[in-house]
Amino acid sequence: MGSFKVKLIKKFINNIDLAIETGTCFGNGTRQMARLFHKVITIELDETLHNETRQKLENEGYNNIQFLQGDSGVLIEHLSR
Ligand SMILES: C[S@@+](CC[C@H](N)C(=O)[O-])C[C@H]1O[C@@H](n2cnc3c(N)ncnc32)[C@H](O)[C@@H]1O
Repeated sequence: MGSFKVKLIKKFINNIDLAIETGTCFGNGTRQMARLFHKVITIELDETLHNETRQKLENEGYNNIQFLQGDSGVLIEHLSR
């Protein structure tokens, strides 16, 4: 996620404390959002990417990210805090 997007998010973040990301991929966006939001839920369809990125970001010390594996179009309906 580029610095422009980070600036844009900061401008509109206000009292929002939860971010939901569809497509964890390599975790670059996830990492940025974990620094901006109290909690991040990130959903990845690909099982290998899900496992590897979760391991990587947990090793980096991020403990405010919930990693879900599956189709976000399906899982998003079942999310709860
Ligand atoms: C362009 S990357 C996401 C980039 C990432 N959000 C970032 O900011 O760096 C797209 C990712 O979305 C995942 N993806 C595609 N369809 C999906 C779906 N329906 N549910 C969850 N993940 C999906 C792909 O497997 C891929 O890892």
